Amino acid sequence: MTDRPALRVTDVVKSFGSTTVLKGVSLELEPGSIHGLLGQNGAGKSTLVKIMTGVHGAGSFTGVVQVDGSTVQLTRPQDARQLGIGYVPQEIDVVEHLTVTENVLVGDLGSGLRFDRRAADRRCRTLLDQLGMTIAPRTRVSVLSAAQRQLLMIARALALTPKVLILDEPTTSLTDTEAVALGHILRRLAATGLGILYITHRVREVLDLCDGATVLRDGRVVEQLSRSDLTADRIVTAMAGRQVRTCSRAAGIRAAVRHCPSATSASAPRAGRPPGSRTSPSTSTRARSSASPGSWAPAGASCSPASSGPCRAPAP
Ligand SMILES: Nc1ncnc2c1ncn2[C@@H]1O[C@H](COP(=O)(O)OP(=O)(O)O)[C@@H](O)[C@H]1O
Ligand SMILES: [Mg+2]
Repeated sequence: MTDRPALRVTDVVKSFGSTTVLKGVSLELEPGSIHGLLGQNGAGKSTLVKIMTGVHGAGSFTGVVQVDGSTVQLTRPQDARQLGIGYVPQEIDVVEHLTVTENVLVGDLGSGLRFDRRAADRRCRTLLDQLGMTIAPRTRVSVLSAAQRQLLMIARALALTPKVLILDEPTTSLTDTEAVALGHILRRLAATGLGILYITHRVREVLDLCDGATVLRDGRVVEQLSRSDLTADRIVTAMAGRQVRTCSRAAGIRAAVRHCPSATSASAPRAGRPPGSRTSPSTSTRARSSASPGSWAPAGASCSPASSGPCRAPAP
C-alpha cells in the first residue's frame, strides 16, 4: 500500500435490501497504473465501481472512499467527476442524433454557457487524437461502430481531465483487434499518470494489460495480485473458487498449463480462431511469456476448440 493512491476504498459493505453484495471490500489504485478488477458475473464489480463513482451515494453503504489520500463523501456522480474520477459504464450511452462533439462535451452543453461550436470541435479533436480516432467531430454518432462509440465514451470521460479512469467491461462489444488497440491506448494514457481501473471478466486482457489485479468472488476480495504474481491459474482459480485448468493458445491449443494432458498430445485439436474472430490470438500490449492463456475450463472438462475463445470466466 502506498500513502497516496489515486483511489482507495476500504472495507466497503453494500446491501440491496436483505442481500449483502459487497462484504468488506478494500482496493487501491496507483497513479499511472492499470489495475484489473475481475470476478464472475454477479461478483460485485459494477456495484463497487458505482460506489467509487457516486452512483451508489454515501449513506447507501459503509466503508471509506479516498481520493489522493483524502477521505471523500461521494453523494452523486457529479461529486466523483469533480474529484477527477472518470467513469465509462458497462452500457454504451450515446445520443444517436447528436454529433461526436456534442456527445463528448455533453457536460459543457449542460452547463448553460453559450456553446462555441468551433472551439468545442477543436477541443473534441484533441481528445479524439489522444485516442487515435480520426473521425470528424461533427460526425453523427448514429453512423459510428460499437468500437468508436466505446472510444467516444472514453473521450467523454477524458474531457473532464480525470486522475482516475474507471472502465467497466470496456471490450464487451469489441472484436479482438479492437480490444488490443484499446489496450495500447490505455497504456499510453497510464503513462501520462492516469490511474486506470479496468473491470473485466476476461483473464487474458488482464494478463496482457494490467500492472496488478484484484479478484472479487461473491462480494469479497479473494485475491490481490501484483504484476509479478499475475498468472491465469491464480486469477481463474480465485474467480471460480476451485482449481481449474487453463490452456495456452499462444500458437493454438498446444500446451496445458494444468490438468490438461489431452491438449499436449499429438492428437490435440489444432488452434482455431472462433468463428468471426479477426485477429491472431496473442497480441500483447506488453511483453509477455508465450503462455498467454486463451481459455480455461474446470478441471475434468474436455479441452476442445470450443474452449479456445477469448479467455472468459465461467457462467455463474
Ligand atoms: N440495483 C440493484 N438492486 C438489487 N440487486 C442488485 C442491484 N445491482 C446489483 N445487484 C446485485 O448485486 C450483485 C452484484 O452485481 P454486480 O455488481 O452487477 O456484479 P458484476 O458487475 O460483478 O457482474 C448481483 O447479485 C446483482 O444481482
Ligand atoms: Mg458488471
